[in-house]
Amino acid sequence: MPVDTLRWQHIEQHIHSFLKNYGYGEIRTPAFEETGLFIRGVGKDTDVVSKEMYSWVDQGNNNLTLKPELTAPVVRSFIQHKLGRLQPINRLYYIDALFRRERPQKGRQRQFHQFGVEAFGSEHPEMDVEVISIAYHIYKSFGLKELSVKINSIGSPEVRPTYLKELKSQLESHSEKLCKTCNHRLSTNALRVFDCKNSNCQLVLDEFAPVISDFLSDDDRIHFDMVLNLLSELKIPYTLDNKLVRGLDYYTRTTFEITSSALGSQDALCGGGRYDKLVEQLGGDSTPAVGFAAGMERLLIVLDDISEPIQQNCDIYMVILGEKALSKALIIANNLRVDLNLSVITESSRRSVKAQMKEANRQGARFAIILGENEIKNGLATIKNMNEGTQEEIELNKIIEYFKENRKR
Ligand code: HAM
Repeated sequence: MPVDTLRWQHIEQHIHSFLKNYGYGEIRTPAFEETGLFIRGVGKDTDVVSKEMYSWVDQGNNNLTLKPELTAPVVRSFIQHKLGRLQPINRLYYIDALFRRERPQKGRQRQFHQFGVEAFGSEHPEMDVEVISIAYHIYKSFGLKELSVKINSIGSPEVRPTYLKELKSQLESHSEKLCKTCNHRLSTNALRVFDCKNSNCQLVLDEFAPVISDFLSDDDRIHFDMVLNLLSELKIPYTLDNKLVRGLDYYTRTTFEITSSALGSQDALCGGGRYDKLVEQLGGDSTPAVGFAAGMERLLIVLDDISEPIQQNCDIYMVILGEKALSKALIIANNLRVDLNLSVITESSRRSVKAQMKEANRQGARFAIILGENEIKNGLATIKNMNEGTQEEIELNKIIEYFKENRKR
């Protein structure tokens, strides 16, 4: 509704200018992609791909899917447009609508919106920190308090098989306590057991799952320590969360989420991490990358609690009395909009003066211009300053000049 979209516009504008200051350029991708992109990119055993996609076969027998996330589409586009060959580092951002067939509740919709960034080309920890810092500071700039950055490293793909083998063997010995889906996950991708909402499965993980950070290589550890050191130096508070593997298959090394206690059970404001193998996996040149995405609706839930509603007031209400005043009034109104960039609402219901003045008040107008047949005959208009309650008569051809001088009042 217009009253809500005002706030959306305000937030979107802020995101555009904030990310421009970090050197990020906006990318827009199509509403749907080939289904295979998400199966290969996000992973067929993830909840997003196995349960939540809106997919169909079109008349040309193509398997298509409304995009459930944006990292895979952005990578597809990055490869297709050979961005990596044009410049070594590519910093991209987006604000877009996404679709997941989840159980709707507060902070979780089937159509929702994300803003996010994807930075391609640097394997170094400073790029992880740039991305985390953007996420943290953009929320700060919106006035959010109670923020918590949770961070983990899930290591490079080379160390993953050893961890997965150990995880699987530990969980298999407690398989009777795991739900049916998690038992299936043991044979497909044991890491996905971490995504389970079932409290018994979480208890088994708490008690028996090996900790992924114990399996990091020396290089992974050096990378992660440097990320943490830089975060400390930038005074970005974080907590280590060694269960944070994130629900999408493409992550390598750093994973993070920012949560807000103001959100309730769906407490993740945003999530992201490094995905150094995805570009290559989807057919591009080997390119390290890191990014995050943030739920717009969740940001709005938190902002609604801390900020006043935004009102759209018009500058001028054009009170029109009688048919003869119509064309002149409409011309003046257009000139004020085009020449002086003022918002002008013209009467369109032919109401009494009293009713029109009431409408001017309702619209929050700062001025009313009153144009009747008499005024047209005398070449004059009455201009009322609604805040001060004063009014004066101005020649019709001096109205633009009058508002040039008085527009700020
Ligand atoms: P994600 O954790 O699936 O990550 O989603 C990121 C954020 O989108 C969540 O933290 C949440 O705020 C919001 N979100 C997700 N699903 C819903 C929903 N159904 N309704 C409302 N909000 C939702 C990704 O999408 C990754 N692509 C992030 C990323 C970018 N990783 C690297 N680059």
